[in-house]
Amino acid sequence: EKGTYPHYMLKEMDEQPTVIRKIIQAYEQGEDVTVDADILKALAEADRLYIIAAGTSYHAGLIGKQYFEKIAGIPVEVHISSEFGYNMPLLSKKPLFIFISQSGETADSRQVLVKIKELGYKALTVTNVQGSTLSREADYTLLLHAGPEIAVASTKAYVAQVAVLAVAAYAVAKQLGMELDFDLKQELAIVANGIQTIIDSKDEMEQIAEDYLKIARNAFFIGRNMDFCVSLEGALKLKEISYIQAEGFAGGELKHGTIALIEEGTPVFALATQKGVALNIRGNVKEVVARGANACIIAMEGMEEEGDRLVIPSVHELLTPLVSVVPLQLISYYAALHRRCDVDKPRNLAKSVTVE
Ligand code: F6R
Repeated sequence: EKGTYPHYMLKEMDEQPTVIRKIIQAYEQGEDVTVDADILKALAEADRLYIIAAGTSYHAGLIGKQYFEKIAGIPVEVHISSEFGYNMPLLSKKPLFIFISQSGETADSRQVLVKIKELGYKALTVTNVQGSTLSREADYTLLLHAGPEIAVASTKAYVAQVAVLAVAAYAVAKQLGMELDFDLKQELAIVANGIQTIIDSKDEMEQIAEDYLKIARNAFFIGRNMDFCVSLEGALKLKEISYIQAEGFAGGELKHGTIALIEEGTPVFALATQKGVALNIRGNVKEVVARGANACIIAMEGMEEEGDRLVIPSVHELLTPLVSVVPLQLISYYAALHRRCDVDKPRNLAKSVTVE
């Protein structure tokens, strides 16, 4: 029930700190967070992980790749489920497939699951819905514990997916005997508080939507490293609910084409949460501003500079997507409201896409 909320989407965004805390509870074991022994074994034995997903879940998969590679040292490929069928990559000797799906019913992903099961490979489904098709047909399931997600635009399920993938990568790293220099359980608790701080300053996001998107026909989202993955998700959120044409891309790609589209007043949202590339992304912002763009820099606390529009709470560098996505979700929501769009049920879209 949405209770006093005007929209499910707003309610679901508000629930995000609670969702992170629920994930900590669901996966905690003593001082640590971990996953079941059979899943740990399957992950630890794989020589390569193949993540298969669509839409927002694909964007979560891009972050998941970084977790498994950077935390656990396991190579990962991420594939859009609808493309995998025609374009199956050459597989490694001991692959493990990971299906990420909020609903667990996405037909494009299921078709891949059926195919790889026929080939005799094992699959792990990361889903919000226990007993869903993708969960039943896979060998293993990790639940998101996000609670029902009703709004078509996925918000809390995305942060849950990213958090659960972090837990799985961290757990397998420990299983493999790797030295880890951070405590994920503690860092996730800090993330929950950071998200809450952003939720508590919603008015600021409403003002940003007003200042940057009121009359915009298009918008760009840029970032580097993990901020690039979040830019893709920010652009998808904006286009699906506000119908503003939006594109997310890597800051370094600007000069390879997209910069031609920058005109007087074009909104450009730039994320600056990744330490190693902060200067580069600020350089990109200068380039678009010189061509008339209306740039909105969203920086992480400790990295902010004069003139940044929004400063978001500092969290562990690998977990930044969990907080940086939240202002983008809220900005999209308010942009859609200003345009009187049906936020919870955007035109032409279904919550779960059960046709290929
Ligand atoms: C975006 C959105 C879609 C879904 C996609 C996959 O907000 O909701 O892009 O992410 O249809 O759905 P699931 O995760 O249910 O497989």
